[in-house]
Amino acid sequence: MIRFMVSVLVFFIDTLYRDRPYQRFYVLETVARVPYFSFLSVLHLYETLGWWRKADWLKVHFAETWNELHHLLIMESLGGDKQWIDRFIAQHTALAYYWVVVVLYGTSPRSAYYLMELIEGHAYHTYDTFVKENAAQLKEQPAPQVAINYYRNGDLYLFDEFQTCTIPESRRPTIDNLYDVFVNIRDDEGEHVKTMVACQNPDAQKTFKSPHTQDSVAQKIVLPPASEQEVQAAEQEADLVTMG
Ligand SMILES: [Fe+2]
Ligand SMILES: [Fe+2]
Repeated sequence: MIRFMVSVLVFFIDTLYRDRPYQRFYVLETVARVPYFSFLSVLHLYETLGWWRKADWLKVHFAETWNELHHLLIMESLGGDKQWIDRFIAQHTALAYYWVVVVLYGTSPRSAYYLMELIEGHAYHTYDTFVKENAAQLKEQPAPQVAINYYRNGDLYLFDEFQTCTIPESRRPTIDNLYDVFVNIRDDEGEHVKTMVACQNPDAQKTFKSPHTQDSVAQKIVLPPASEQEVQAAEQEADLVTMG
């Protein structure tokens, strides 16, 4: 059933957008990030009802949406969203998909993670084929500013946070041209696959941790208690703010 759902979506997008890669990637990125919104919505519901609380899952899934958002921004900067029909198809498909995955995640989280594993795997192969077939052209084109900001110049905490099978700060992309951008988008999709596999682990409910949580635990980072002077300085600052 899950495989059928994915193959329908993939067939639909691949057939409709055979010769328009940036529009195809725009639609793919708009639709394929929606399940992470569904996961977050259901997890927030569980928290609100007091059924289940695990901050690490929220952190990782939010970091995944943040990564996919930047893929989408890159596609938009390349003109993938210029025509209203592409925006119409992408946004309406995404809306329907959101609710399908909310129901699926609420009834069978592991099936929902398997669905995402397949979608991310498809995204990986789509980008892999694209970079191999268009390497020379892509190397001659500049990287969009949004990609440079995200992969190279920005705060990379959330970039590390969605890669649960990679040590934080070990992956720092080089972004010199459009080829580098697509290689890193492809590699991101590969990291999402690994994270989705980790989420399906039978012990995941107890053992799944965000990369920075693992890092903190492994290094046993314990902040020293605040000194007397630091406490006094903080109190004085608070007084100033109140008076101001
Ligand atoms: Fe993506
Ligand atoms: Fe993805």
